[in-house]
Amino acid sequence: MERKELLYTGKAKKMYATDQENVLWAEYLNQATALNGVKKDTIEGKGKLNNQITGRIFEYLAEKGIASHYLQELSETEQSVKRVNMFPLEVVVRNVSAGSFAKRFGMEEGVDLPFPVLEFYYKDDALNDPFINDAHVQVLGAATDAEVAEIKQQALKINAALIEMFKGIGIRLIDFKIEFGKTAEGEIILADEISPDTCRLWDIETNEHLDKDIYRRDLGDLIPVYVEVLDRLNKM
Ligand code: C5P
Repeated sequence: MERKELLYTGKAKKMYATDQENVLWAEYLNQATALNGVKKDTIEGKGKLNNQITGRIFEYLAEKGIASHYLQELSETEQSVKRVNMFPLEVVVRNVSAGSFAKRFGMEEGVDLPFPVLEFYYKDDALNDPFINDAHVQVLGAATDAEVAEIKQQALKINAALIEMFKGIGIRLIDFKIEFGKTAEGEIILADEISPDTCRLWDIETNEHLDKDIYRRDLGDLIPVYVEVLDRLNKM
């Protein structure tokens, strides 16, 4: 397969076309951002860790019957993915209070929620990715009612699979963000990435942060922590 023109540069990835109509080439970058890009740094080695962690997780989900855009690893920092039309939505699933949820409701972090809480955010950097409800999703034309229902169902299934997977490697899945896209055939599938950049992962024993909060909250060096997550996934 041949890499063709650059289609899009995101905060942590570059997407290229390929010589195959329905296949894209994703390159994971050594860039870390927080606060919608206000905090920004180059972190050597981060791209290859997230590329490999995302690959391992998408492979695990495929084994559990959950389809994603992931096709295969192309190099340490690159993977091929199916071309999809992305929904302009960030879907957050929360199992435990933390982050913006804890802040919004004046709650302590680390409290188990009685059931997984789903949230939608509208992907628009200029608007700071606002928190939106189901009606907003439709009014904004981001997804239809039926698509929202399908996305919610898949998000809960993905959550159940990920809780189980992370539990097996000594990690408590606090919350995470996923994105969905539609294939040329009209199938809605999981896309983008699942990595410590997009999940809150706490060590089951110590509650130690194994995710990007290390960077967001200036808690230390992010690389050894991401290496730890990849090592545990590789031993799975
Ligand atoms: O900040 P907040 O608590 O809303 O984040 C919830 C989850 O979504 C966290 O796991 C965080 O890593 C993820 N997230 C993300 N990208 C964003 C916002 C949140 O991956 N733009």
